[in-house]
Amino acid sequence: MSRKSILLKSYDLSGLELPNRFVMAPLTRQRAGKGNVPNKMMKTYYSQRASAGLIISEGSQISQQAYGYNDSPGIFTKDQVKGWKKITEAVHKNGGRIFLQLWHVGRHSHPVYQPDEQLPVAPSAVKEDGQIRYRGKKLETVTPRALLTEEIPGVANDYADAAVNAIKAGFDGVEIHGANGYLIDQFLQDATNKRTDRYGGSIENRSRFMKEVVEAVCNRIGKERVGIRLSPGGAHGDMSDSDPKKTFTYAVKSLNQYNLAYLHLVEPFMESAHLPQEMKHAAAYFRKHYNGTIITCGGYDFEKAEEVISAGHADLVAFGRLFISNPDLAERYKKNAPLNDWDCSTFYSNGKKGYIDYPTMKEEDERILGMRYCCKR
Ligand SMILES: Cc1cc2nc3c(=O)[nH]c(=O)nc-3n(C[C@H](O)[C@H](O)[C@H](O)COP(=O)(O)O)c2cc1C
Repeated sequence: MSRKSILLKSYDLSGLELPNRFVMAPLTRQRAGKGNVPNKMMKTYYSQRASAGLIISEGSQISQQAYGYNDSPGIFTKDQVKGWKKITEAVHKNGGRIFLQLWHVGRHSHPVYQPDEQLPVAPSAVKEDGQIRYRGKKLETVTPRALLTEEIPGVANDYADAAVNAIKAGFDGVEIHGANGYLIDQFLQDATNKRTDRYGGSIENRSRFMKEVVEAVCNRIGKERVGIRLSPGGAHGDMSDSDPKKTFTYAVKSLNQYNLAYLHLVEPFMESAHLPQEMKHAAAYFRKHYNGTIITCGGYDFEKAEEVISAGHADLVAFGRLFISNPDLAERYKKNAPLNDWDCSTFYSNGKKGYIDYPTMKEEDERILGMRYCCKR
C-alpha cells in the first residue's frame, strides 16, 4: 500500500528543489582510495542513494592537517576533486542532489595522520580522553598543539578553498561540520577552549572561529549553497561545556545573520543526561532561536520524523544508519515496505560488504522473481 505524507512533500532549499524531506546524513565509511581519492565503489554507493531529497556526503578533509580517519576522502587535491566529480555526476544523473561535508577533526587526530608527524592542532592544548583509530589499531590520544592566533584565519581559509573545490567537483553545496567534537565544536565548548585571545573566553569569542569559517565559505561560494551542522551540548569526543544552553543559544542565534541554506542539528538523544530539560530535543528548542531551514538528525524512525515536521520543529529529517542499510529509503517509505537492518560491523570496514550490497526493493523483487523462474525449470 502506498502512502502520502509530509515526508514526501517537496521542499525549496534556497532555490534547490528537493522532491522529499528525506536527507541522507553525513556518514564516514572509510572506503576512499589511495591519496584519499573518492573511488568507483563510492560512486556506486552514493548513486544508489540518489532518491533521497538531499545527500550530505561523509566528512571530507579540507587539508592534510584536518585528517583523523584513514581512508576517508579529502577535498583539497586535484585528484580528490576529480574523484568526487565522477560521484556528483552519477548522483545527478540518477536524479539526486548532493552537498559535501567539510571536515577538520582538530585534536581528534594523531601524528600518524599529520604532515611530518607533527602534533594535531586545536584551540588549546587539551587532550581528548580516548583513543584514535588508525588502520585497525587503537592509538593513545596525544595533547594537541594550540593554534597560534595568527594561524587561525588560514585554517578558516582552508575551509573556503575546500568549498570552492567542492563546487568545482559539482556539489550542489557544502555543509560545514561544526558538530560532534571536531575543530569548530572544540572552539565553541569551553572544556576544550582555554584561549585568552579573541577566540577564547566569552561565548562571543568562542564562536568567532565558527563565524569566520561561515563568512569565508559564504564569500567564496554564496550563502545559499552553505549549511552548517552543530551538536548542541554534544558530549561525543569527550566534549563538555560549563553552560551548554548559553553557549549554543548564542551560537545558533548568531547564525541567523547569514541566511544559510540550513542549520543541521544533531539531537543529543543518548548523551543528554547533563543537559537542561528544554535542550534535550534540540530541534524543538532551537526552532525558537533560528529563522531558517532546520534539518534534524539522530534516532529518527518514520513515525518520529513525521511528528517532528508536523509539529513544526524541523523542515527536513536526516537519517544515518537507516540510509546505510536502505539505499532506497524514501521509496520504501512511500510503499510502506519493510526495511533492511544495518550491520555495524561493516560501518568502517573495507570493501563492498555492508556498503554497496544492501538491496533496493527492486533488486529484492528481481531476486525473488529469478528464484521462481529457477524453480519452474
Ligand atoms: C558509520 C557512521 C559514520 C558517521 N559519520 C559522520 C560524519 O562523517 N559526519 C557527521 O557529521 N556525522 C557522522 N555520523 C553521525 C550521523 O550523521 C548521525 O548523526 C547519527 O548516525 C545519528 O543518526 P541516525 O540515528 O539516523 O543513525 C556518523 C554516524 C555513523 C553511524
